[in-house]
Amino acid sequence: MADIAEVTQDLPPTAAASRAEEPNTVPRMAKSPSRSGRERRQVCPASQQRLVVVSNRVPVPKDGSNKAGGLTVALEGALKQSGGLWFGWSGETVENPPGEAKMVQSGNITFAVLDLTKQDYDEYYAGFANRALWPVCHYRLDLVQIERHELDGYFRVNHAFAASLALLLRPNDVIWVHDYHFIPLASELRKLGCKNRIGFFLHIPWPPPDVASALPAYGRLLSSFGAYDLVGFHTPQDAENFQQCLTRENIGSSVGPGEHQIDSHRMRIGAFPVGIDIDTFGKMAAAAEDNALVRRTLTSLGNRDLIIGVDRLDYSKGLKQRIEAFSCFIKSNPDFRNRVTYIQITPKSRSDVPEYQQMQREIAEQAGWTNGSLGEVDWTPVRYVNRTVGHSALAGLYRMSRIGLVTPLRDGMNLVAKEFVAAQRPEDPGVLILSRFAGAAHELDCAILVNPYDTEACGAAIARALQMPIEERRERWATMMERLRSNTVQAWCQGFLASLRSVSVESTGLFIEHDTRTNWSVPPETPSP
Ligand code: F6P
Repeated sequence: MADIAEVTQDLPPTAAASRAEEPNTVPRMAKSPSRSGRERRQVCPASQQRLVVVSNRVPVPKDGSNKAGGLTVALEGALKQSGGLWFGWSGETVENPPGEAKMVQSGNITFAVLDLTKQDYDEYYAGFANRALWPVCHYRLDLVQIERHELDGYFRVNHAFAASLALLLRPNDVIWVHDYHFIPLASELRKLGCKNRIGFFLHIPWPPPDVASALPAYGRLLSSFGAYDLVGFHTPQDAENFQQCLTRENIGSSVGPGEHQIDSHRMRIGAFPVGIDIDTFGKMAAAAEDNALVRRTLTSLGNRDLIIGVDRLDYSKGLKQRIEAFSCFIKSNPDFRNRVTYIQITPKSRSDVPEYQQMQREIAEQAGWTNGSLGEVDWTPVRYVNRTVGHSALAGLYRMSRIGLVTPLRDGMNLVAKEFVAAQRPEDPGVLILSRFAGAAHELDCAILVNPYDTEACGAAIARALQMPIEERRERWATMMERLRSNTVQAWCQGFLASLRSVSVESTGLFIEHDTRTNWSVPPETPSP
């Protein structure tokens, strides 16, 4: 993120300051309250409502290069429509972070990012977000670490981010908060008087009450969701789990599917499965047939079929079970020895978190052991690579694979599954083997769906996929493509925002004392004695 500082420092101070969006720092009394003594917020057309996206990672443009993936491109598209602000963490830890965000302007999008102290990083990101929320939301109660100071750090960072964001907000901004790092952000913003529409989208699963309630400060976290106008999940199952959690904790009451009343506030809850840009990805895959890495890989395979897995190194991805399943497949189908190669591309992830360090050791050991016991002098069954591969080369590798192995133990959506399908050759498509516990299985039910814990069944699924007749492969692929086409990433973005923008003003409880010039509510005047 040095680039952000560099770009900002290159500007004369006045220009840098003018990039900030007229901060609304000073609460002002409303001069002429309406007859009821309360002023109602004006609703302005969507085209005039600026979009504010909040996420832990922010794709601040660097050196004019565009490495953005589909989700980022879609969000940037939405931000460009009415001008926008993308706010979050800079990715940097420093000793004394400045209170204000560093700003980078790119067209009509402002990127605003905050540094964290090492303690903030340890407690908020590496701690509570990734050692409590992440395992619980992925049903791994055995891995949950409960540390009071990490919980405090999580709420502290959310408070600090809210305070900094508040300075940049305008009255008609629509705010879209992303993911588990920022669950309490809306409630922190509300405490500061923010009355804007605020939506939240969770990119990871939400478990049922018996699992979710293992979260430290469960009640406090759940209640803080009540500050959002719309809460979105990838699947109807996650949305239902969430509403059950609220009901079980007596937080408001359900007023029908997807509507929850909390005091005077009505919150909408819904499933918004994220999609991909299939046309762009399909074209990228076709073009990548000429990619140098793809060609070299193809040559190195000889006549062997390729089985591919691509995942961040994360215990939720089921890598241990997947390697076991591959091993089981080879042992039960000796005819396939030396006729297939399984490439597992797994960039390291969250290496500061002890559970991830341990996993790195275990998977590397398992891959080595599998090759040692199954391999031949002229055959390495598993090629395990801890490296990031560019999006375009990945698209080409998916296209030349006979099988895409996407077998997480639990996943919010899993876009690799969707990208694998979009990358295939229509006349000779590969087969997707997909975990029934990935959100993508709701839409891609024409994949071979597997239980990733059942390694024998997964091994059998590999054998079946390799022997699947071409007609069946084409049929399954065409149905999956239809599903993907009907729900692109752009449609996801528009659908969520349309739902958020349509939340009625009454249901957001906006009949408040409100300053029209800034955005901040003012306490009602105390009547004179
Ligand atoms: O799946 C949740 C998520 O936050 C994704 O949005 C993101 O791509 C991934 O995890 C990476 O996590 P991190 O930012 O911790 O590297």
